[in-house]
Amino acid sequence: MPPAYIFVPVSFCILIIAASPCSAADTISAGQPLAPGGEKLVSKNGKFALGFFQRSTGSNNSSTPKWYLGIWFDTVPKLTPAWVANRENPLPDGTSSELIISNDGNLAISNRHNRSILWSSQANTTTNNTVAMLLNSGDLILSDASNLTAIFWRSFDHMTDTFLPGARMGRSKVTGRWSHGLVSNKNSRDLSPGIYSGHPSPGSADFKLLLSWNSSVTYWSSGQWRGQYFSNMPEMSARYLFLSELVSNDQEEYFTYWLKNESMVTRYVLDVSGQAKMMIWSDASEEWISFYPEPGAQCEVYAVCGPFTVCREDMLPFCNCMKGFSIRSQEDWELGDRTGGCNRNIPLNCASSNSSMSGGLTDMFYAMRNVRYPDNAKHNGAGNAEDCERSCLSDCSCYAYSYYDGCRIWNSELLNVAQGYNGSASEGILYLRLAAGEIKTSKHKRGMIVGLVTAATIFTASSLFAIICMFVRRRIRKHSSMQSSNIRGGIVAFRYKDLQHATKNFSEKLGGGSFGSVFKGILPDSTVIAVKRLDGARQGEKEFRAEVRSIGKIQHINLVKLIGFCCQGSKRLLVYEYMPNHSLDAHLFQNSGMSLCWSTRYKIALGVARGLAYLHGNCQDCIIHCDIKPQNILLDASFVPKIADFGMAKFVGRDFSRVITTMRGTVGYLAPEWISGVAISSKVDVYSYGMVLLEIIFGRRNSREEYSSDRTYFPVQVVNKLLEGNVQCLMDQNIEDDINLEEVERACRVACWCIQDHESQRVNMGEVVQILEGLIKVDVPPMPKVLEAISGGADSTISEALRLENQ
Ligand SMILES: *[C@@H]1O[C@H](CO)[C@@H](O)[C@H](O)[C@H]1NC(C)=O
Ligand SMILES: *[C@@H]1O[C@H](CO)[C@@H](O)[C@H](O)[C@H]1NC(C)=O
Ligand SMILES: *[C@@H]1O[C@H](CO)[C@@H](O)[C@H](O)[C@H]1NC(C)=O
Ligand SMILES: *[C@@H]1O[C@H](CO)[C@@H](O)[C@H](O)[C@H]1NC(C)=O
Ligand SMILES: *[C@@H]1O[C@H](CO)[C@@H](O)[C@H](O)[C@H]1NC(C)=O
Ligand SMILES: *[C@@H]1O[C@H](CO)[C@@H](O)[C@H](O)[C@H]1NC(C)=O
Ligand SMILES: *[C@@H]1O[C@H](CO)[C@@H](O)[C@H](O)[C@H]1NC(C)=O
Ligand SMILES: *[C@@H]1O[C@H](CO)[C@@H](O)[C@H](O)[C@H]1NC(C)=O
Ligand SMILES: *[C@@H]1O[C@H](CO)[C@@H](O)[C@H](O)[C@H]1NC(C)=O
Ligand SMILES: *[C@@H]1O[C@H](CO)[C@@H](O)[C@H](O)[C@H]1NC(C)=O
Repeated sequence: MPPAYIFVPVSFCILIIAASPCSAADTISAGQPLAPGGEKLVSKNGKFALGFFQRSTGSNNSSTPKWYLGIWFDTVPKLTPAWVANRENPLPDGTSSELIISNDGNLAISNRHNRSILWSSQANTTTNNTVAMLLNSGDLILSDASNLTAIFWRSFDHMTDTFLPGARMGRSKVTGRWSHGLVSNKNSRDLSPGIYSGHPSPGSADFKLLLSWNSSVTYWSSGQWRGQYFSNMPEMSARYLFLSELVSNDQEEYFTYWLKNESMVTRYVLDVSGQAKMMIWSDASEEWISFYPEPGAQCEVYAVCGPFTVCREDMLPFCNCMKGFSIRSQEDWELGDRTGGCNRNIPLNCASSNSSMSGGLTDMFYAMRNVRYPDNAKHNGAGNAEDCERSCLSDCSCYAYSYYDGCRIWNSELLNVAQGYNGSASEGILYLRLAAGEIKTSKHKRGMIVGLVTAATIFTASSLFAIICMFVRRRIRKHSSMQSSNIRGGIVAFRYKDLQHATKNFSEKLGGGSFGSVFKGILPDSTVIAVKRLDGARQGEKEFRAEVRSIGKIQHINLVKLIGFCCQGSKRLLVYEYMPNHSLDAHLFQNSGMSLCWSTRYKIALGVARGLAYLHGNCQDCIIHCDIKPQNILLDASFVPKIADFGMAKFVGRDFSRVITTMRGTVGYLAPEWISGVAISSKVDVYSYGMVLLEIIFGRRNSREEYSSDRTYFPVQVVNKLLEGNVQCLMDQNIEDDINLEEVERACRVACWCIQDHESQRVNMGEVVQILEGLIKVDVPPMPKVLEAISGGADSTISEALRLENQ
């Protein structure tokens, strides 16, 4: 009976096919409500789902969670809402509610028992015969059931904190109405509207995207549209992951973007801390990876820490209360909403400051140095600092004053103060008014705090010291002839006092970075040294460890040599050999004419390549430097290059070739794969090296400014000229000696092989060395896609170029 055998499986298949649309519908219509507790709509591509979900909104876990109706990423294990209907009115009890098409055709959340409406789409429907459908893009649309192209309402027009690919941000020229834009969440759990918003600039001829605080203070602007990107977001022009467009016609004007690869899971969000960023879901690391935050610095977000706080970019957490204040709501603070700020511990003695009978209980001032001043200062006529102080003291509502280019006093809550931050605002000393009692009691308190801090430091320092000492001991065992203060071939543990002496109390500064400053010094044996003093809190600690760990192990003529270190108390210092010619960027990008000659450039390129080849392959473990750029390449007296700054370096065990890590490095030198959050390999250094090599050859900076002011990004010009066979026309005009055109051609080809989009297409550093040495030959490389997208025959680029030409 063969037919029976065939019949059974076929019917089984039919059953499955017939059943699947039921379990994952993407549409609801009248009479088919959607109830909480597992029921959901799923978009056809399976990417998005619509339904009810539960969330506890406070940090107190015992508080009962509330119910929301929303759209989330169905392929992401961590529930991530992309849109929420009732963010302002969560439902206390989800089980009695359902999502329906109401009598007027609108989408509504209704109470099952008495039919009261808790939320409605409130659209002007022309029929009550409507259906709602969840599209592949994550857009929920409500349309006429008999004509699906007649759309009455869509979730994309009512964004919450997420701007999905395909959504539009702009205005209708017919009604003059602007789209709603983004509003941040209240905190990391509570989905109700927060204080930050992102929206197109209203009433302006130039279309821009803006970020604002409390709908009143704009703290970031995208800048003008330049054909393919906004002027303050030049990264967009790479068009690596997504394409974007500004559409303007008779009916409407809007900005939109879409993914090049539809299967990627991404969202653009305005987060709780006021930064807008692109997030990509990484299956490898099971988390959302963020990149391109705007504004780039957290402290540039207006009032991100709330009143009476100080924002510090170089510390974690970056928000701290001012002296004499404590956190207003610990719960909000822990959930990432710091906008509540801090409260005064001891009230001001304002009354007694009027009378001379105050018994010394007048308020006092505490000097905060190197601050960005708060907003809303009032100018005061006081002619000198004492008068300025007096006029603040005599005004009960004065919270602070400054005397810098005249007297300024503050009568409102002190907002937006940052410290150790070099922004555009003038920096100086802010005198903060505190109760005299605060200064008195603070001695006692301070004693306790100092005790705690010391205990903590001793703990971390001692554990760190144990690691380093173990390492040093191992070294000492190897080089048994060494004295404690002069370890030949090894590294020295210096006393702080000795380094203080060697650097003449840190008087000659050579440079500085985000983690610390570098000073010149001379040891008693007249060795000239460079001492890096790490400031900042934990980040400095991490860098210190990474640096000692990596550079302590390795030795190569093209890697900077670590002579020693000091970790005494909270002091963290690193001691290197001194490089009289400083860093490469100082020579490449100067206009003073003292330019490097071609043969030196070529030697530097080859030296850096050898140093990297050693790091990647020849030392014990593979080390990925992760931050190759001209600032981190130092030059000794005879211009031999030395790779420096291993604070971001990553170790890769011998048996692995990749590591997962969060994005680091410097824009302009970052390989595209950082962005997608995949595990990285040493090929990220190859990419950065390629960019640096182009800078070495042509003496042009690969910077953001160069990117946006120039019509063609200069690596693109290079590849174009390379394909035309005429790279020498781009050569640095400052090079005076005879340029070896064969070397130029060779170096350009290598550089372009280094900056290919896909790691597998890039050469490795060993090959780079061999090519530069002339041992192997390479063909002309293909145009990398990232660059091609910018230079390629996109019509808008050409028309933009013509427009600029005609101006
Ligand atoms: C609440 O629960 C989360 C995760 O379950 C936990 O991390 C957190 O510490 C808890 N908070 C409190 C206040 O118990
Ligand atoms: C947490 O919530 C419960 C019940 O709502 C309440 O009794 C308790 O005091 C709360 N705890 C905190 C730390 O707020
Ligand atoms: C639509 O409206 C008509 C009257 O305008 C009403 O009779 C009908 O019941 C409504 N249909 C639904 C599904 O609510
Ligand atoms: C419907 O019931 C809910 C509770 O079940 C109640 O809060 C609400 O006020 C009721 N609405 C009307 C219109 O009766
Ligand atoms: C609905 O129509 C009314 C009157 O025509 C109008 O005032 C209102 O703005 C419209 N609402 C929407 C959401 O278009
Ligand atoms: C469907 O709706 C669209 C948009 O409202 C309209 O232009 C079109 O004429 C309608 N088609 C039919 C068959 O009614
Ligand atoms: C935000 O603005 C509103 C009115 O514009 C004001 O009442 C409110 O106090 C402001 N919020 C803060 C935190 O300043
Ligand atoms: C698109 O992305 C998916 C997952 O991220 C990847 O597997 C696939 O290869 C990509 N497709 C293309 C054409 O790049
Ligand atoms: C202190 O003096 C100021 C003006 O000099 C006055 O406005 C304020 O009311 C006085 N305060 C008290 C408590 O007397
Ligand atoms: C801030 O930056 C300016 C120029 O960018 C510089 O001249 C100034 O010295 C800097 N201030 C501090 C405190 O670093």
